[in-house]
Amino acid sequence: MTATAARPADTFAAEQATARHFLMCPPTYFTVEYVINPWMNPDEPVDAELAMAQWEELKNTYLRLGHTVDTIEPQPGLPDMVFAANSGTVIEGRVLGSRFRAPERAAEAEHFRRWFVAHGHRDLVMPTRINEAEGDFAWTGEVLLAGTGFRTDPAAHAEAQEALGVPVVSLTLVDERYYHLDTALFVLDKGPNAQIAYYPEAFSEGSRRVLARMFPDAVIADAADAACLGLNGVSDGRHVVLPVEATGLAKQLEDRGYEVIGLDMSELRKSGGGPKCCTLELHS
Ligand code: ARG
Repeated sequence: MTATAARPADTFAAEQATARHFLMCPPTYFTVEYVINPWMNPDEPVDAELAMAQWEELKNTYLRLGHTVDTIEPQPGLPDMVFAANSGTVIEGRVLGSRFRAPERAAEAEHFRRWFVAHGHRDLVMPTRINEAEGDFAWTGEVLLAGTGFRTDPAAHAEAQEALGVPVVSLTLVDERYYHLDTALFVLDKGPNAQIAYYPEAFSEGSRRVLARMFPDAVIADAADAACLGLNGVSDGRHVVLPVEATGLAKQLEDRGYEVIGLDMSELRKSGGGPKCCTLELHS
């Protein structure tokens, strides 16, 4: 019996993969030299070569799956620039740039703005409020799920709705280890029947109720899945790229017919990042 056939009749299953367009930044200058989230410890050594190898593996995985990957030139002095997800929200050609909370990351926003302009993105707005882009925004194809609590300003949610012209649903994060929405939730399938995976304990009581109402069939991750940044996944509707340690989540996804690709992201996790943090999606 296949995994798909074994799933309970009342749950959703993996669909066809759809080709994706990603923007990534190689971790050429990656290191951990300041602390802006609980994962970061400058006293713990980072293996730069290993970080690069893990990033290359992620990029090659996307290419192998048939996705398009653009890269932006990394900049010295910006060790977190590898986390491209934080630098833009792109939906159907409209681009909302970013504005970082930490001064250490502020300059990244302008490098990405220039990349968007140089690559023909004319419909571009830069936020006036703190906005860490896809770190805190997850597009379901219908609504933009928007996180706040640690990074993105709640006022940035209304700004995103106005700039992108899509409905925004605000969600509040309450556990500092899961400081960005993309450390606690990701979209498995886009569209009218969008499906997500998430870790409820990372959200406020009211936000949990919102998620349960919107996504009654969601894949619910447990504390062990969350603690390896397993919710920092990237799905194309069929293949799901996850940190390799997220075995419980992987099993649940396989039971629903997804093909899980577990990657070692240990070096990038020392800065609080995983596959999704390294991946900005240009949603068409
Ligand atoms: N050290 C980075 C920061 O704290 C990690 C960002 C990870 N990115 C993400 N999309 N969660 O800002």
